[in-house]
Amino acid sequence: MSTTNTYESISNENRKFPPTASFAESAHIGSMESYYKQYHKSIQDPQNFWAGVARDLHWFKPWDSVLDDSSKPFYRWFDGSRTNLSYNCLDRHVTEGRGDKTAILWEGEPGDKRVLTYADLLDEVSRFANVLKRLGVHKGDRVAIYLPMIPELAVALLACARIGAVHSVIFAGFSSDSIRDRVLDSQTSLVITADGGYRRGKILELKKIVDAGVQDCACVHHVLVVERGGDEAIDCPMQNERDVYYNDLSADVDAICQAEEMEAEDLLFLLYTSGTTGKPKGIMHTTAGYQVFSYITAKYTFDLQSDDVYWCTADVGWITGHTYIVYGILQNCITQVMYEGAPNYPDEGRFWEIIENYKVSIFYTAPTAIRAFMKWGDDWVTKNDLSSLRLLGTVGEPINPEAWMWYHSVIGAERCPIVDTWWQTETGGHMLTPLPGATPTKPGCATLPFFGIDADVLNDNCESVNAGILAIKKPWPGMMRGIYGDAQRYESAYWCKWGGRYYFPGDGARVDEDGYIWILGRVDDVVNVSGHRIGTAELESVFVEHSAVAESAVVGVPHEIKGQGLIAFVTVIEGHDCSEDLRNQLVAMVDKSIGKFARPERILFSSDLPKTRSGKIMRRLLRDIAEGRELGNTSTLADPSIVENLQLQFQQGK
Ligand code: WT7
Repeated sequence: MSTTNTYESISNENRKFPPTASFAESAHIGSMESYYKQYHKSIQDPQNFWAGVARDLHWFKPWDSVLDDSSKPFYRWFDGSRTNLSYNCLDRHVTEGRGDKTAILWEGEPGDKRVLTYADLLDEVSRFANVLKRLGVHKGDRVAIYLPMIPELAVALLACARIGAVHSVIFAGFSSDSIRDRVLDSQTSLVITADGGYRRGKILELKKIVDAGVQDCACVHHVLVVERGGDEAIDCPMQNERDVYYNDLSADVDAICQAEEMEAEDLLFLLYTSGTTGKPKGIMHTTAGYQVFSYITAKYTFDLQSDDVYWCTADVGWITGHTYIVYGILQNCITQVMYEGAPNYPDEGRFWEIIENYKVSIFYTAPTAIRAFMKWGDDWVTKNDLSSLRLLGTVGEPINPEAWMWYHSVIGAERCPIVDTWWQTETGGHMLTPLPGATPTKPGCATLPFFGIDADVLNDNCESVNAGILAIKKPWPGMMRGIYGDAQRYESAYWCKWGGRYYFPGDGARVDEDGYIWILGRVDDVVNVSGHRIGTAELESVFVEHSAVAESAVVGVPHEIKGQGLIAFVTVIEGHDCSEDLRNQLVAMVDKSIGKFARPERILFSSDLPKTRSGKIMRRLLRDIAEGRELGNTSTLADPSIVENLQLQFQQGK
């Protein structure tokens, strides 16, 4: 089940699964004819298409222009308009009589439950927004959010959006050092966290992690703490003046808070993601374009209907949760399940029980999770009644056809279409995806572009080819607007190919005879571990901080469950021991600098790395070693014995 195998198997994959007639009949987009018709219109006259979508939503003031491309690649969408995303997610529904509809069916890992209607959510968000104001947060201020998957996580995002504060969510698996880097980079004035959260039966003491992260951050004026613990006391040290409990303030703030009228290009949020250097990038998304794109991609990709019960298993800490738990789903006034914990707690049947109990109709998860479910065995699944399901989705990495087929037959009972959605933190929402009532799907394939998305596969000379690099040739409303504090890096990372004409996402792809696009994985030094992006350079810079380490190179390798894993090659300064102890110290440094999820599978020590005579590390050879392959051409190496030693060490399992 390796990436190489995925590549080989998807190259030979020719099964096709059209939607059932009954699904197509009631779908928003119910045939390929309808897809192509609307797609061509959207590409020929994008401004008209996007304006039509935007009219479904509320605007305090309409736009003067749909797209302003005068300062490419700094595009502006819906300029001149004023709107508010929290208004479109909440007030719009409540004022139009949908306030009693259930918004969130929440379940904590220990089994505690909460139900919030759209009216309840508006109330909570307004209070939360007033608490933020009371703590001195103004429009444009950056607020970091480090919370477990509790309703307050969605509430905190919406409260920021309501008053025009810029949220920067940090996934609660990141370490203190990662919090510090993100807080400093964006000059965050307030951090929202909880005393703790539950994961596999254990309590994660989040407040303590935040404390260690922000201790030297002068920009942080307040840490706002949500009490998750309830009856179970979680150790939560509070610092006078700086730290406040949410409950202490929420009781005496007003339950009404007018939504701020935001300009179209006002910053909505930052979300940090890994790139090819050691420093994560603060991806910027702005208000109006992201609003329109998240709304319509959610509606069509998931074919949302008013009686659906939707469940996305991602954490709000990643872009999937921002767009397809919070903004896209709530704008469509859909009922959704939100679950705090692990899929295998208290046992491997937890997800399937949730689907049965809440009668989930749309289920959106990641290939890495699907591969884990397969491994745990079908019995966990078949014990439960999954007949409420009508649509399945996947996101985060290429899905191997075996996992796709298992998802299709065991979870979907061969009845539910699967939407394999290709997109990125940077794209804001779905870019390539089947539309479930129209597109015949193929196992392992993200199929065709969404409306308004002009996708192509190009070679370095900007020619369309069957296998090459994915390019997006037209701007779209949900696109990133830049990297916080580093406009130059935005241009050099995303507009560096094809003379800056097209957006470069960093993925390799091929096109088949039906014009379907198959994503083949990253073409840069970004590794996708369980759907989490990790820059190899980020990990390398962690290792070289150790006084015994001279140099390091990290490569991605196929991994049965995670999709990709990391293998680290570390050269140790003479006189230091390559001991198990050193290995443990390096792992501890990864935990501290990034988070446990970035731990390498293996760390190999050596006296040097394979280099060309000009001193360039030959990563290709390191990948050969790490994947147990025959070594490629070694004739350009300065010292071939190095690579032979490494290979021997790898084979001996050291
Ligand atoms: C990278 C983006 C999009 C939310 C989760 C990840 C890979 C994502 C797919 C898919 C093949 C995929 C790409 C992309 N990726 N979805 N359906 N098929 N590859 O967001 O952390 O920004 O990572 O994930 O390589 O560039 P992200």
